[in-house]
Amino acid sequence: MSPSRAPGPPPPARTARQLREATTAARRRPRPDTDVNPLRQGLRLERVPDPCAFVLFGATGDLAHRKVMPAIYQLWRTNLLPAEFSLVAVARRPYTNEAFAAEVHASLEKYSRVQPIDEAAWSDLAKRISYQQLEFSDDAGFDRLSTALDRLDVERGTAGNRLFYLATQPSQVTEIVRQMGRVGLDHEMRGGGWRRVVIEKPFGRDFESARHLNHEVSKVLRESQVYRIDHYLGKETVRNLLVFRFGNGIFEPVWNRSYIDHVQITVAESIGVEGRGAFYEETGASRDILQNHLLQLMTLVAMEPPTSFQADALRNEKVQILRAIAAPDPEHVRRDVVRGQYGPGWVQGEPVPGYRQEPEVDPESETETYVAGRFTIDDWRWSGVPFYLRAGKRLPKRTTEISIQFKEVPLRLFRESTGDPAPNVLAMRIQPDEGIMLRFAAKVPGLGLDVRTVNMDFAYDTSFVVDSPDAYETLILDALLGDASLFTRADEVEAAWSVVTPIINAWADMAPPHFPNYGAGSWGPEAADELLGRDGRRWRRI
Ligand code: BG6
Repeated sequence: MSPSRAPGPPPPARTARQLREATTAARRRPRPDTDVNPLRQGLRLERVPDPCAFVLFGATGDLAHRKVMPAIYQLWRTNLLPAEFSLVAVARRPYTNEAFAAEVHASLEKYSRVQPIDEAAWSDLAKRISYQQLEFSDDAGFDRLSTALDRLDVERGTAGNRLFYLATQPSQVTEIVRQMGRVGLDHEMRGGGWRRVVIEKPFGRDFESARHLNHEVSKVLRESQVYRIDHYLGKETVRNLLVFRFGNGIFEPVWNRSYIDHVQITVAESIGVEGRGAFYEETGASRDILQNHLLQLMTLVAMEPPTSFQADALRNEKVQILRAIAAPDPEHVRRDVVRGQYGPGWVQGEPVPGYRQEPEVDPESETETYVAGRFTIDDWRWSGVPFYLRAGKRLPKRTTEISIQFKEVPLRLFRESTGDPAPNVLAMRIQPDEGIMLRFAAKVPGLGLDVRTVNMDFAYDTSFVVDSPDAYETLILDALLGDASLFTRADEVEAAWSVVTPIINAWADMAPPHFPNYGAGSWGPEAADELLGRDGRRWRRI
């Protein structure tokens, strides 16, 4: 077995040969808490990424502190990063290495999912973190970054492997990638030395801008070097959707228009815009959630079985679905897509302001904080099956759920019974309270023939005695391992924009809506209920 990662100071300088050997070695030290627990068997813990430098652009921003650094710390703490790991934090503000590390430590105390902080692991990681101030338009700064990374290869054994994580404003992506190309940071080396770039959402703001961005990125990077993040794909319950569908034999035969009446997907949030008013004004629910998280969930529900779990096999099937979603024309948008904006109200017992009263929001803003729509997929499996999608801020609670609503039985034999059973529902609770519930009819004990619907429930927290990793831990580890299956491909992003752009364009041509049209703490505008009501259906109470 290869040697385990030793705690302590960074390793000494290596020769070129040692660097090459290090690149291919997978080191893992036994993890007592995981190795003895049989319920953890099967978790993917066997691979450790190659030695590498992790370059975090936008290192002083909210995303870096809330998500990326806690994920890195957690991966380090659980020995899933190699000993020869270095993190170069890059941002525009001046900091010393120590001051930056102190801020990260403070953020870990707030955002790390495991508390208290393991100080020994943190100080070990902190030794591998350096900070570099950089204006993204500054050529000399990028030259210095390139030199610093070369030096790390020699001094810290990072073996020429580099992951660039762009946790910056979307508008800065093109410039950073251009600069990387200018100084050759994108060049992969023969026999080792991979270069990968992780790009955060939002990827573009409509079809044209996404295509332009893809084009700019492709001038410097090959598609296989680009990892576009949609963090929903890293969620444990979302990954389980694939296992549920394709690891079980009994669901796939009924997973089609013969048995399924319709599908509902809800991404509800109780929070408002959380100090991100300026960002949200430019985004709205359709760009923030529908284009990515909701459509990704829909593709995973609807896709055909892939021939393997190789990144491209999986993504080919997802793209097929996105392309088969009927493109909404203005008439369809008017009839089948609802937008809403919250006014003041009460959420979880607290009074909250309306969207237009949030900081950095136009008091007459027309930005939607809620979107619901009826979509169809033009293929043999799903023809005629509506997918109702909705997402909103300041709804009564935070919950993400996919519910598959099955057709009624062909003959209602029990309609005389006091509790005529409702059709079967399979509800996948993505978060919180993660699990899967099947609703079915059962006979009430007794001499009569009363029938009721009951729930059969699988809950993650009682079935597995482990905490799920955060989506960012999964995705960062995958990017370091070179597994792109949970990342969005260029054509996939464009196909998703092809569904959402006509909606945004149609709205721009319509009379402005009467906002606010739902109170904070309610389930959204009435029009969203009418959308299903017209089809004789209702949103599931969740
Ligand atoms: C982000 C959106 O992509 O997802 C946010 O920009 C939203 O507005 C967040 O709050 C929701 O993520 P999660 O993981 O809390 O469901």
